[in-house]
Amino acid sequence: MRAIGVDIGGTKIAAGVVDEDGTIIAQTRRDTEPDDVASIDAAIADVYAELSAKHEVGAIGVAAAGFVSADRSGVLFAPNIAWRDYPLRDKVAALIEDDITIVVENDANAAGWAEFRFGPARDVDDMLMLTLGTGLGGAIVTEGRLVRGAWGVAAEIGHMRVVPGGHYCGCGHEGCWEQYASGSALVREAQAAAIAQPDRAETLVALAGGDPAKIVGPHVTKAAQDGDPLSVELLAELGRWVGEGAASVAALLDPELIVVGGGVAAAGDLVIVPARRAFAEQLSARGHRPEATITVASMGNDAGMVGAADLARL
Ligand code: BGC
Ligand code: NA
Ligand code: ZN
Repeated sequence: MRAIGVDIGGTKIAAGVVDEDGTIIAQTRRDTEPDDVASIDAAIADVYAELSAKHEVGAIGVAAAGFVSADRSGVLFAPNIAWRDYPLRDKVAALIEDDITIVVENDANAAGWAEFRFGPARDVDDMLMLTLGTGLGGAIVTEGRLVRGAWGVAAEIGHMRVVPGGHYCGCGHEGCWEQYASGSALVREAQAAAIAQPDRAETLVALAGGDPAKIVGPHVTKAAQDGDPLSVELLAELGRWVGEGAASVAALLDPELIVVGGGVAAAGDLVIVPARRAFAEQLSARGHRPEATITVASMGNDAGMVGAADLARL
């Protein structure tokens, strides 16, 4: 059976009709406002109407960037979207006439599941997915099963504290890993560097139309690919945070493969090579244990959509 996968990002939602083998048959998108949760409900109902008019589907999987309840019906809390104990499934169902199954999934769990089923992790049983976007998301597959924890919110890995007294996080704490290893962290550091080191930041600021406050992640990636030293450094620093954190996670989970996805993954080796180096430096018992491979995700921004659709069928 085909299912619709909907991936809800900070400012847009992407939706697609997905086949049982993970192929996207059709897709569409809408802009949304992260502080206006009702607009997200309406956008989901709207993409469903558009896609179901032309395709027969049996379920909707919604990938949401937040702490998803164990029964997969809603979002308990989200650091970067205004959901608080939000019954997302029922809100969307109220806007849809058809009686269709709607399943809410954590966005990173959905992306990780897609990489595990259809991506580079399909040949392993134990994997860790890290998604670097607005936040840092995680998915854990152990012995072939997605780990959900007692209450559905396992793998909220971005909120592990890596710096005591560090940067404030949308979750209300300080020093969370996502404040150092995410697209938002990259942008914060790039904008700060543009103010502190204006000479070195010329290329980057030019890409942002002359305004440091307008620097976004893809500017840093573009400049780094063209060899801009500051941008290369910013991505390497991000990679270092990814790798060091991953080494701590390896102490807990012993994954065979660590897949790095999300928007920042577009920078490829500029992030992954420093991540591998930092991982190796921080891995305990190194040289006396087999080591996880760190690789870039294969499905880019489609992973959440594909994984949510697949999980909605299960
Ligand atoms: C949220 C997670 C989400 C991740 C990636 C984090 O801030 O707590 O639920 O998976 O961002 O979007
Ligand atoms: Na997760
Ligand atoms: Zn946090």
